[in-house]
Amino acid sequence: MTSTNRHPTQAGFLEVRDLTVSFPTATGRVDVVSHLDLDLEPGGALGIVGESGSGKSLTSLAIMGLLPDKATRSGTVRLDGEDLTAMPESRLRRVRGDRVAMIFQDPLSSLNPYYTVGAQIEEAYRSHRRGVTRRQAHRVAVEAMERVHIKDAAHRIDHYPHQFSGGMRQRVMIAMALTTEPELLIADEPTTALDVTVQAQILALLQEIRRDTGTALVLITHDLAVVSEITDHIVVMRAGECVERGPVESIFSDPKHPYTQALLDAVPRIDDEIGALRSLTTTGGRP
Ligand SMILES: Nc1ncnc2c1ncn2[C@@H]1O[C@H](COP(=O)(O)OP(=O)(O)O)[C@@H](O)[C@H]1O
Ligand SMILES: [Mg+2]
Repeated sequence: MTSTNRHPTQAGFLEVRDLTVSFPTATGRVDVVSHLDLDLEPGGALGIVGESGSGKSLTSLAIMGLLPDKATRSGTVRLDGEDLTAMPESRLRRVRGDRVAMIFQDPLSSLNPYYTVGAQIEEAYRSHRRGVTRRQAHRVAVEAMERVHIKDAAHRIDHYPHQFSGGMRQRVMIAMALTTEPELLIADEPTTALDVTVQAQILALLQEIRRDTGTALVLITHDLAVVSEITDHIVVMRAGECVERGPVESIFSDPKHPYTQALLDAVPRIDDEIGALRSLTTTGGRP
């Protein structure tokens, strides 16, 4: 499946081939991600969908080279033709800070309660941009908060995480991710902890960011409704394997695999949510 002669310039922006992640168990190694291929064009949007435990988070961590110590990984992860799995950790860290950013389900566990959100955005930015003054970092942080539509950003930047709602905290995390102007944003269940209205607002924001910055997006979710409006292609995962892939429309209109059908059936308010997303995206995400 993987060709060692694959010409880098022929590759997509993100090209994952034969990715396998396994953990040791009492009875031997178990693959939790198995022979997975993913493709993403520059500025494209890919949804990875599957129920809890299907291997979505480990896939994203494997792409970023952030797997737990016990895990082993094989396969290749090419970004712009460069294999991240063959990169020394120091360079990989630079890729993570410079070109790729991640946001997660629970912003509260990623934010330190004892520091203002501004201090944390500035610190994250300065850790990736040597030589930036505090003043410059402050300006970048305020701008990033404005871009995610946090009102009165210059004032809110001095507030602590607990002074923000769940949705606003996720906006703070997205602001933090945007400071380095990533070419790829990996969002792992970014709306799962939020109620439906706030979910729709955050998805509209991600959509708007894609449109305005051209960043590519990998959106990971257990909820097919979430990916329907803002990704072009979907990969459906089950027990570590891709069971179905294709353009969003064909997955929705003509799911081939019974598991995909079951995921579709598990979406109770799909028409409502798509309607809500449509109205939000057409207003640029502003309430
Ligand atoms: N540190 C670990 N050690 C052993 N197994 C793990 C570990 N982390 C995750 N797993 C297993 O790998 C599978 C996939 O996990 P994960 O990628 O987190 O799923 P998802 O994000 O789709 O819910 C699960 O069955 C989980 O139990
Ligand atoms: Mg997960």
